[in-house]
Amino acid sequence: MALLELDQVEKHFGGLPAVDGVTVWADDGEILAIVGPNGAGKSTLLKLIVGLETPSGGSVNFGGEDITQDPPHRVRQRGIAMVQQTPRSFPSMTVLENVAIGALFGRAGSHREEEEALESAEEVLSFVGLADRRLDYVGNLNLHQQRFVELARAISGQPKLLLLDEVMAGLNDAELSASIELVRTIRDRYEVTVIWVEHVMKAVMSLAERVVVLDFGKVLTEGLPEDVMREQSVIEAYLGEEIKLA
Ligand SMILES: Nc1ncnc2c1ncn2[C@@H]1O[C@H](COP(=O)(O)OP(=O)(O)OP(=O)(O)O)[C@@H](O)[C@H]1O
Ligand SMILES: [Mg+2]
Repeated sequence: MALLELDQVEKHFGGLPAVDGVTVWADDGEILAIVGPNGAGKSTLLKLIVGLETPSGGSVNFGGEDITQDPPHRVRQRGIAMVQQTPRSFPSMTVLENVAIGALFGRAGSHREEEEALESAEEVLSFVGLADRRLDYVGNLNLHQQRFVELARAISGQPKLLLLDEVMAGLNDAELSASIELVRTIRDRYEVTVIWVEHVMKAVMSLAERVVVLDFGKVLTEGLPEDVMREQSVIEAYLGEEIKLA
């Protein structure tokens, strides 16, 4: 059994299906990318997993348990963390405080004291290379650094599954390379499974081990990145033209 299994998951807003019978799975330790055109239902799918939206149909299973109706705090305690598409940091709190919040409310959160959470936050900040910015207000960091704070907050809760929604959008080449490397290292060091929504194809091709393509709320295809990106249906629905594969 896979770590995460979504079976025929649906979400309707009014009459319109945003997610329309999606069946996907993720194995322990893999990096799975979800791609597709704007409005394909990618963010909604992630929100359905973490309980920010409730499915209109189908089921979500995590570690062998049905979590379909779980509220967000319960999902977090089970070990699923998400970095959302729009930043969710607290700009007037320090970098360290932002990350400590993740340690307090993550998987091990209920057993942690504040001091322990701060210690764990310091460790994660060193890991992402932001230790020297720990006492700065998040509002004073650039976009790239703010994304790293969000990643640090997510992993400080010691998740088993990490969901990332377009964390690489708007970065320059050097920042993009650093982000790709960081996600890979997070997976290796923390042994998490990563499900990652992304439009930056260069990043998808170099980091994803498997790709699921969504279109109009449905799975268009799935498979190895180099295979999926060559499929005619994917080129027509999403890529526009075949991308150059290095
Ligand atoms: N809270 C909501 N209420 C009504 N409609 C919504 C809501 N959230 C999403 N939708 C609609 O559901 C569809 C899927 O949206 P979603 O944000 O999941 O797409 P996406 O694949 O993440 O797109 P993008 O690549 O632009 O981020 C869109 O048509 C969107 O307008
Ligand atoms: Mg989205």
